[in-house]
Order: sequence, then structure tokens, then C-alpha cells
Amino acid sequence: MSLKPIGRVQRALLLIALVAALGTGAYFAFEYTLVAQVQEALAQPDTTDAIAYGRTLFQTRGCAGCHTLEDAGSMGDEGPDLSKLATRHDAASIRQSIATPNAVIAPQCPEGPCEANIMPPFGAILTPDQIDALVAYLMQA
Ligand code: HEC
Repeated sequence: MSLKPIGRVQRALLLIALVAALGTGAYFAFEYTLVAQVQEALAQPDTTDAIAYGRTLFQTRGCAGCHTLEDAGSMGDEGPDLSKLATRHDAASIRQSIATPNAVIAPQCPEGPCEANIMPPFGAILTPDQIDALVAYLMQA
């Protein structure tokens, strides 16, 4: 008898934890996958033109929200300005920065030193072809 109210509280807490976990996962999928796929379908990018496809992905996959890039007309200020990135990085290091952002943390962000765990690990979100397209785009943007 006396355990019953505790059991109920625990069940409620478990339910809250479950809903929070599902909500976080769903938001992540929603923001970086589902919404993006709808936007990409509407934009109808030519996926055989890596630079054009990369430009579309930059707009639809959240990059623009965090990064300033003149060519893309974006003004995000969470991460470094990506304009003329090829003057500082080669293709391999750009690829690594996108796929596994925590591997190397860029030194300077608009609002101070850059921090880890802010940029999502796009190696787990995008296909290798999509990352190739983003690298091709950023190499010349
Ligand atoms: C939630 C914010 C956020 C999103 C979304 C995001 N980034 Fe980042 N990005 C950052 C931050 C913060 C850093 C600096 C920390 C680091 O190096 O991991 C960074 C670093 C980078 C770097 C390294 C820059 C340098 O000067 O060394 C590249 C390249 C990059 N991001 C590309 C992208 C691309 C392409 C996308 C979209 C697929 C993207 N980012 C999405 C926040 C973000």
C-alpha cells in the first residue's frame, strides 16, 4: 500500500523522461532530416552538379543558421564565417569539420573561442555524397 504512491511518481518520472528523450530525438530528426528533405524536394537541386547541390544542402541542413557565408547570403554567428574557407583549409579538413566537428575545434567564433558539441556530427546525418557536395561547394564559396 505505502509503496503505491512512490510507484506512481516513479512511473510519471519515467514517462516524462521517455517523452523528453523521444522529443529530443524527434526534434533532431525533424530539424536536420525531415524538414530538410521536404525543402530539398521543393528546391529540386541537380544532384549531379556537386557545387549547386552543396549550396542547396547548405541552406536546407541548418548550416546557414549557424554560419555566415557570403555566397549563401547567410549570417549565422554560432560558428566561424565560412567565406573563403579554401584559403585556410583543404578538402580533407573541411570534410572532417563537417562529418566529425569535435575532431578539431576551430579557434575563433564570432562571439569568442569556438566550443565543442554545438555543431551536429553530420557524418551521422548526411550521406557521403551529400558531404562531398558540401565540401565541393565550400572549396569554392
Ligand atoms: C548548431 C550550429 C551549427 C550548425 C547547424 C552547423 N555548424 Fe558548422 N560549426 C559550428 C561551430 C560552433 C563550429 C566551431 C567548432 C568546431 O570547429 O567544431 C563549426 C565549425 C565548422 C567548420 C570548421 C570551420 C573552420 O574555420 O575551421 C566547418 C567547415 C563547418 N562548421 C561547416 C558546417 C556545415 C557545412 C554545416 C551544415 C551541414 C554546419 N557547419 C552546421 C556550428 C554549427
